[in-house]
Amino acid sequence: MSTVTTPPVAAAARPLLTVDNLVVDYGRAGAKGTFRALSDVSIDIGAGECLGLVGESGSGKSTLGKAILGLTPVSSGTITFAGEDITNARGAARRALASSIQVVFQDPYGSLDPTMTIGDILAEPLTASGTGKKAAAAAVAEMIDRVSLPSSVITRYPSEFSGGQRQRIAIARALVRRPRLIVCDEPVSALDLTTQATILDLFIELQRDTGVSYLFVSHDLGVVRRVCHRVAVMYRGEIVETGDGEEVTRAPQHPYSQRLLMASPVADPAGQAQRRQAWLNLRQSAMVP
Ligand SMILES: Nc1ncnc2c1ncn2[C@@H]1O[C@H](COP(=O)(O)OP(=O)(O)OP(=O)(O)O)[C@@H](O)[C@H]1O
Ligand SMILES: [Mg+2]
Repeated sequence: MSTVTTPPVAAAARPLLTVDNLVVDYGRAGAKGTFRALSDVSIDIGAGECLGLVGESGSGKSTLGKAILGLTPVSSGTITFAGEDITNARGAARRALASSIQVVFQDPYGSLDPTMTIGDILAEPLTASGTGKKAAAAAVAEMIDRVSLPSSVITRYPSEFSGGQRQRIAIARALVRRPRLIVCDEPVSALDLTTQATILDLFIELQRDTGVSYLFVSHDLGVVRRVCHRVAVMYRGEIVETGDGEEVTRAPQHPYSQRLLMASPVADPAGQAQRRQAWLNLRQSAMVP
């Protein structure tokens, strides 16, 4: 059992990130066939905080992450980062934000250029933003050490690594510009359970050491319970419940969150039987959509 625990969050006057009444429509505005992927979504994330975002496939989790990263247009609502309205930041303003807001995706292989060495993959974001070669090399070496990879990885290529190692590289690349927020979209879902546990520990340690904040998207309540201070539950493009990580993942209030909890696997058969009964009770009470 791991001994790594989520670091405490310092109380701050204002959150690092605030999303207010966000609406995202896919398809042409006003046109027929427009699909509302997010309706009226509001969340906030404090400095050094991990906010979990859970919900079934298609509920809009990645869409919210993309909106924060400026990868999908916003129909209405606002996204405020460090006191600045970034809802429609484009061009130079958006590029400048890349040093503050980074991303780690589920598939590290797809997001790492197979033709570049790990050293170049990690140095590129630094040299592209004006850091000298020597300083970049020093920062890369430090980051590789920080994610517990040997320095020899610098001259090797992404295809030479396992999924877990590749995810360490992707995390190092996200961190190398010292961001304040990382959007983590299912970052451990493609990994086996043992590797998942070590990568989750790494996320927690990095947060403790750097004070970085995470929006942590996952469909796995166990994963979210492990790393998140608070959890928001998304259902069909809306946040239906937000609360303390432990409470929401163990005793959720909203019927949809309860259904999500019951759909997640339990290791022991007695626990599974109990949960099945609870699920039947919930269905009989007709509270589940
Ligand atoms: N570019 C797009 N154009 C049109 N519809 C889209 C687009 N991207 C996503 N959608 C739709 O928006 C909804 C939300 O998708 P999203 O990817 O945010 O879900 P998700 O919660 O991340 O799901 P998953 O757990 O499967 O990753 C889905 O119905 C999806 O089909
Ligand atoms: Mg997704």
